Amino acid sequence: MTDAFLAIPATRAGFDEFARLVVELGHGEPLPDPDTWTTQIAPDLVFLACEGACVGYVWVQVMDGVGYVRHVVVDPGRRGQGLGRRLMAIAAERLLANGCTRWELNVKPDNAPALALYRSLGMDFEYPTWVLRLPPEQAGGLPAEDPALRVDELPAERDAELAAAFRVPRGVFAFHRRKPRTRVFTVMRHARPCGLALFDPRIDGCFPFRAADPAVARAAIEALAPHLSSPAAELLLAIERDGAVAEALLALGATLRFRIEHLAGPLVAPASR
Ligand SMILES: CC(C)(COP(=O)(O)OP(=O)(O)OC[C@H]1O[C@@H](n2cnc3c(N)ncnc32)[C@H](O)[C@@H]1OP(=O)(O)O)[C@@H](O)C(=O)NCCC(=O)NCCS
Repeated sequence: MTDAFLAIPATRAGFDEFARLVVELGHGEPLPDPDTWTTQIAPDLVFLACEGACVGYVWVQVMDGVGYVRHVVVDPGRRGQGLGRRLMAIAAERLLANGCTRWELNVKPDNAPALALYRSLGMDFEYPTWVLRLPPEQAGGLPAEDPALRVDELPAERDAELAAAFRVPRGVFAFHRRKPRTRVFTVMRHARPCGLALFDPRIDGCFPFRAADPAVARAAIEALAPHLSSPAAELLLAIERDGAVAEALLALGATLRFRIEHLAGPLVAPASR
C-alpha cells in the first residue's frame, strides 16, 4: 500500500500555509515577512501533505550536533491521527542525517498533547523559561546599579565563548545574527559574562535573556530601553533558567505572558513513519 502522506520541503509558495498554521502555537509573535521567511526559515521547514492538502509542518535547525525543533504544528482538523508523531519522525530523520545526537525544544507546560508526544520520544525537562512583558522603567525597582557591571555589544567572534558561558547553543547566536537589525548585548562583571540579551527589534524583545541576578537584569534592561521601537513600547523578555530574576520582575508588576519548559533528549531513529 502506498503512503498517502508526502514530506515537502518548504519554498516561498508555502508561506500562506505557514501563516495559517503558525498561529496554532499561540506565541503571539508577528509573522516574518515572506522574503525573510523564504530565506531564513523555509530551508529548515518541511510540510506534510495528504491528498493535496497541507496537514502540518515541522521546522528544525541543526546546531552543533543538537537539533532544535522550533515548531511542530498539525492542522486543527487532523489532530490525534498520528501526524504529530509523523512530523517528529521527519524531523528526527533530517537531524540524524545532519549528524545530530540530541534534540531539544520549548513547550508550554499546559500543552498536554505536545508534552506527551515529546516525552514518548525520550525528551525530558531541562530548564524553565518565563516570557514577560514590562515597561523598561520598571527595572528601576530592581537593586541599585552595580558599578562593577558593564554592558557591551560584543562581535560575533565572541559568540562561542558566550554560548559556553550561558549554555546557549552556538546555533542560536548564528540564527539570531542572520536576522536583520538584531543586537547581542552582554553584561560583564569584572570582565566575566553575567548577563546576555539577544535583542530583536522586530519583537522589541530578547529570546533568550539571561541575568545572573536582578542587578544584572537592571543593567541589561536599561541598556536595551533606548533601542525599543517607541518610548511607550514594552520590552519582551524570555528569561531562561534565571528564576530569581523572573520573580523579581513579576513582583515589580511585569506581565507573565506564558511559561515554557525546555525539553531535550537523545536522538534515536523513531519507528518508521
Ligand atoms: C502537539 C501536536 C503537534 C500533536 O499532534 P497530533 O497529530 O495531534 O499528535 P499525534 O496524533 O501524532 O499523537 C502523538 C502523541 O501525542 C500525544 N497526544 C496527542 N493528542 C493528545 C491529547 N489530546 N492528549 C494527550 N496526549 C495526546 C500522545 O502521546 C500521542 O501518542 P499516542 O498516539 O501513541 O498515544 C498538535 O496537537 C498541535 O499541532 N498542536 C498545536 C501546536 C502545538 O502546540 N505544537 C507544539 C508546540 S511545542
